[in-house]
Amino acid sequence: MIHTEQNFSKAIEARRSTYGISKESTISDERIEEIVAFAIKHTPSAFNSQSGRAVVLLGENHDKLWNLTEAALKEIVPAEKFQPTADKMASFRNGYGTVLFFEDQAVVRDLQERFPLYQEKMPDYSLQSSGMLQYIVWTTLHAEGLGASLQHYNPIIDDAVQKVWDIPSDWQLVSQMPFGKPTAAPNEKQFNSVAERMKVFK
Ligand SMILES: Cc1cc2nc3c(=O)[nH]c(=O)nc-3n(C[C@H](O)[C@H](O)[C@H](O)COP(=O)(O)O)c2cc1C
Repeated sequence: MIHTEQNFSKAIEARRSTYGISKESTISDERIEEIVAFAIKHTPSAFNSQSGRAVVLLGENHDKLWNLTEAALKEIVPAEKFQPTADKMASFRNGYGTVLFFEDQAVVRDLQERFPLYQEKMPDYSLQSSGMLQYIVWTTLHAEGLGASLQHYNPIIDDAVQKVWDIPSDWQLVSQMPFGKPTAAPNEKQFNSVAERMKVFK
């Protein structure tokens, strides 16, 4: 499904946190929907529970998210220190869209009841699966020429998000991924020694 000529490893290498994004897209809205739907369908989950949920916000819905996030932050960030926060919100609002990732707690609770042995682990498994879902969307958006980053303004925006888009109360917000056509290259990235981070026994 990666329509560029990159293979999987190239796509993994190309994915970055891209903060400079514009209100343009390199692909159609239908293709954006298809990417998220494909990831939702194929991301693995514990006991195939399929606990991942996503909401795609485009156009004025995207703007609305960053306006309400800015309003929530204004409540807690001191006024004299607010400008950098406002600038950051503007940089996300400048993007083309945002994907919201959720985990359905009704699914997690059901798993806990059905598999008591793993009860304590189920929330971990749910978030691990969410990470995979987020990663697939992030990497595919980049492979399609878009830039994206991963943000966490939950839980301060949870109530507003639930209200504005009528989100089921069991859907717990995990992250927000603003994206758009890149306007600036990502920062240089430092890599720690891979040799120190893995062991092989053979
Ligand atoms: C679980 C997780 C949480 C992250 N949270 C944030 C965040 O809240 N805000 C942000 O700007 N970047 C966030 N990032 C992005 C990391 O800072 C970034 O992936 C890391 O510095 C490596 O850079 P790269 O994404 O360009 O490869 C997060 C990444 C992961 C995997």
